[in-house]
Amino acid sequence: MNDEQFNAMVDSIQEQVFEDAKDAYGVVGFDRWRNPRFHGRMEDADVQGRITGSCGDTMEMFLKIEEDRVTDASYATDGCGSSNVCGSFAAEIAIGKTVEEIFDLTGEDVLNKIGQFPEQEEHCAYLAIKTVQDAVNNYMVKKVQSS
Ligand code: FES
Repeated sequence: MNDEQFNAMVDSIQEQVFEDAKDAYGVVGFDRWRNPRFHGRMEDADVQGRITGSCGDTMEMFLKIEEDRVTDASYATDGCGSSNVCGSFAAEIAIGKTVEEIFDLTGEDVLNKIGQFPEQEEHCAYLAIKTVQDAVNNYMVKKVQSS
């Protein structure tokens, strides 16, 4: 196989991967899959949460919280594309919410925001929200300990 044939093969595989992702996540989710906003460990976070799901993937959430309201959020995961999409939306949903509002969230909120998601991977959305709640829980503990 020459270089041109090899490149054509790579392009065709990539196109197929993109098509599959579009089919799985819809337009909104696909866009986030390609550009996972809020991704990365936040070095100066006030608190963080970390949960390993039953699938074996670990999700981490990093939050900045001022006067009981989340002002910034980011996530990191060693999981698949679906956990990245869910982590990204969970971080976005958390920003601007009070700690009480965070405890009212469920994976459904993430799934509704994406609009379309593979049923067999919906647990990623629940893991992402549980991790945000774990971070907020750590915030509450810290707050009690420092008062
Ligand atoms: Fe494990 Fe999505 S979090 S498959």
